[in-house]
Amino acid sequence: MADRSVDVSVKSVIDTVTRRFALDQRSPHGPAHWMRVRANGLMLASITGADKRVVEYFALLHDSCRLNDWEDPEHGSRAAEFATQLFDEGVFVDLSTRQLHQLVTACRGHTFEGSHDDITVATCWDADRLDLPRVGISVDSSRLATDEARGSGLIEWADQRARAWCSRIYGQHWIALNMSGNYPKCE
Ligand SMILES: [Fe+2]
Ligand SMILES: [Fe+2]
Repeated sequence: MADRSVDVSVKSVIDTVTRRFALDQRSPHGPAHWMRVRANGLMLASITGADKRVVEYFALLHDSCRLNDWEDPEHGSRAAEFATQLFDEGVFVDLSTRQLHQLVTACRGHTFEGSHDDITVATCWDADRLDLPRVGISVDSSRLATDEARGSGLIEWADQRARAWCSRIYGQHWIALNMSGNYPKCE
């Protein structure tokens, strides 16, 4: 069962990041995606032992600085800079310098890199990849960074939630978008 509870520090980050987000709230890279990545990440972290606070902040930040839903290869780097800015401003009241480093690494590398020795960073990336079905892309288990994401039923669990959101928001319109070939390659 997904963890839907949000504590005060996470709520504060959600408010800050949502204000920063420049795209439509229904964007496939928007708040609904962040919260599914958070749920994926918390579920996976309970198996991998990843740092759950870093995973939560990654979920909220990693796509928050996108400028469009299509090609935006620098959005991970911008998210990493944003994370550092929020840390300096005291928004992350409960994050150590080491945790900030993990968060920055995860945000910066999430679109280009495959795996990472740090299990927290690897868990962040898998949490994001598990939500690919929201844009009609099935998860390729060979591209997941952790064994735990491959063998725990998480792929199917995440797939159902992602596709349900997709059909609720886009319906038939989504099919047209997807077949046009214009839709984002989203991670
Ligand atoms: Fe991304
Ligand atoms: Fe994402």
